[in-house]
Amino acid sequence: MRHNVEIDRYYNNSYIHKPIMWREIVASIENSSKKGTGVVVDCTLGEGGHSEVFLKHFENIQVIAFERDPQILERARKRLSVYGVRFRCINDNFSTIGEHLAEERVDYILYDFGISSFHLDASGRGFSFAGDEPLAMNLDGSGMTAEDVVNSYSETDLRRIIKEFGEERWFPKIAKAIVDRRAEAPIKTTGELAEIVLRAIPRKFHVKNIHPATRVFQAIRIEVNGELAAIQDGLLGGFNVLAEDGIMMAMSFHSLEDRIAKRFFKRLKDGCLCGLDGKYCVCTGKPFGEILTRKPVMAHEDEVIWNSRSRSAKLRVLKKLRDLDGKFK
Ligand SMILES: C[S@@+](CC[C@H](N)C(=O)[O-])C[C@H]1O[C@@H](n2cnc3c(N)ncnc32)[C@H](O)[C@@H]1O
Repeated sequence: MRHNVEIDRYYNNSYIHKPIMWREIVASIENSSKKGTGVVVDCTLGEGGHSEVFLKHFENIQVIAFERDPQILERARKRLSVYGVRFRCINDNFSTIGEHLAEERVDYILYDFGISSFHLDASGRGFSFAGDEPLAMNLDGSGMTAEDVVNSYSETDLRRIIKEFGEERWFPKIAKAIVDRRAEAPIKTTGELAEIVLRAIPRKFHVKNIHPATRVFQAIRIEVNGELAAIQDGLLGGFNVLAEDGIMMAMSFHSLEDRIAKRFFKRLKDGCLCGLDGKYCVCTGKPFGEILTRKPVMAHEDEVIWNSRSRSAKLRVLKKLRDLDGKFK
């Protein structure tokens, strides 16, 4: 278990999340023209696993981190305060990166999409169906909750989000089951929702070792937090603040996230972002970026044994060649 031995040098066990593909990410930084000096933006700080690896591994690196969730950000801030001015964190959506860093140029950007192990295992905010928690699921602790979605969306809208954001084939039955149940009493907890989904999907279609509600929980979480739009905006905003020769690393955990990163990188490689927001076309045929991972990188098998959550991770890396047309900024 080479992975365990190496990782122990990088962090203690006082938090839950294990930084996925940290060796591959470190290698991407080491192999870049800046060779591990400069500024990294960690767009998804979580409990600070990757940020800590950067700070420990590269003496000459500074980290600026974004995190939507004030609770988890505080945990990371406390732990990483030992790095003083080398570490700075911003409690905001990474989609706002262009506004926060308008005057700066950074050398590396990491996106580790989705939620943290802390959210699933310890937040008590309804991300997991393992226990019976209030249906919240909002990362920044404000605005819409999962309870609002489940109890107030029309059946048509529930069908749409379960189909699009959960890629769940039983979406019509599940949406109907939710609407029928809430007509009796509002649905309040993860346990209730998980049970409704479990009953809506015919037993012979239950897949071994995967809870039938997995995709529905993913769909509702994506809807509550506007996750896909944030990724789209965050990638574009990040590219704009990246220096030439800078490295952009995007790690996804399901096909919806990965598709956005893959398309964005391809458009940069093709030198054409028209269609990204439908307003401008700057098709010059000259690439804006070079894709460094022809196929997405997957976690090595020793990491999957050490951390089963790394199994579905896909890492894509791009080098910036030149700025976009000014109109995109
Ligand atoms: C997979 S975890 C990151 C784990 C971290 N890389 C580590 O190794 O500890 C993703 C984190 O990003 C945060 N997050 C998700 N979407 C975000 C967004 N649009 N803006 C800022 N933070 C976001 C989540 O709250 C979560 O803490």
